[in-house]
Amino acid sequence: MPHIILPPSWRIFDRLATPESVYLQAVSRRSYLKLLGAVALLSTGGVSGCSMPVSEEEFSKSPKNFEFSDVDRQVYPSSPNPEFQLDRAMTEEHIAAQYNNFYEFSEAKDDIWKRVGGFKPRPWTVKIKGLVKNPQVIDVDDLLKTMPLEERLYRHRCVEAWAMAVPWTGFPLKVLVKKVEPLSTARYLRFTSFHTPNIAMGQRGYGPWPYTESLTLAEAMNDLALLATGIYGHPLPKQHGAPIRLVMPWKYGFKSIKSIVSIEFLAEEPATFWNTMAPSEYDQVANVNPGIPHPRWSQATERMLGTDQRFPTQLFNGYTSWVGGLYG
Ligand code: MTE
Repeated sequence: MPHIILPPSWRIFDRLATPESVYLQAVSRRSYLKLLGAVALLSTGGVSGCSMPVSEEEFSKSPKNFEFSDVDRQVYPSSPNPEFQLDRAMTEEHIAAQYNNFYEFSEAKDDIWKRVGGFKPRPWTVKIKGLVKNPQVIDVDDLLKTMPLEERLYRHRCVEAWAMAVPWTGFPLKVLVKKVEPLSTARYLRFTSFHTPNIAMGQRGYGPWPYTESLTLAEAMNDLALLATGIYGHPLPKQHGAPIRLVMPWKYGFKSIKSIVSIEFLAEEPATFWNTMAPSEYDQVANVNPGIPHPRWSQATERMLGTDQRFPTQLFNGYTSWVGGLYG
């Protein structure tokens, strides 16, 4: 079945929709000029478009983009949690691995898996700081050894209206939150990705790099909020956000920040990457909701990667029984 790629809907023109005054608060004038250059390049077709995914057989011959460390060998595959079932076929691994959003590496979704080779997800630490009793720097291997890893089948819904259904391996974010003991003044968490523009070419261009995202403390404590270290029974490939990423299945995919280096507990809601770039298009809460169209397209239906099958979008991506109470 041909894999039809949606137009790259939210990349460049979104940012042009942002008033210059707002935009300049977030990025330097120099970056802004680079952005204008990028727009000119795009409008003359200077950036390659999307291509068809390679077959499963061909994909299996390409670099895997993940390795098993000694610790990984002990924890994968992790036991499935039967509480999380899918209402549709699981997305094939080679399809999910070839269609990604990871703006640090490329704006072309079909290209990212080919561009992450230089990225090194080990050694890797996550710094936990801010309004907590036990700030700490934790090695990702120590998290693998000490956290209750399990496999969960989740639906993933991108704000662009494509969707997938995949098995993540990870542990509930709330376990880590409890471990660091937030102070009573902590109300938000800010997650930050790595910043290495010499390896991640996208970070040489426009944007308030590094990529950041935020949650309320209540959202972080919800059972569904997952810190994933693996997918399809093995460590995360680089294009999916190795070695550790957030997975928030009731929110649009941009909240599920990849390759996290720090988590900061704050009293006030922080600015985030997409919300700074285009506040009128990407709100902070970003819950999946078919009744609220994106300013430039409908959110009524979603398209599954690989099959192109369309499903009606569900409120909270179908996870109302878990999270509906958060937003009363
Ligand atoms: N995290 C970082 N650091 N950089 C990104 O560009 N893209 C987000 C999210 N996390 C992104 C990110 C978006 S828009 C989506 S839809 C998901 O990652 C895609 O995850 P996947 O590529 O593993 O399917």
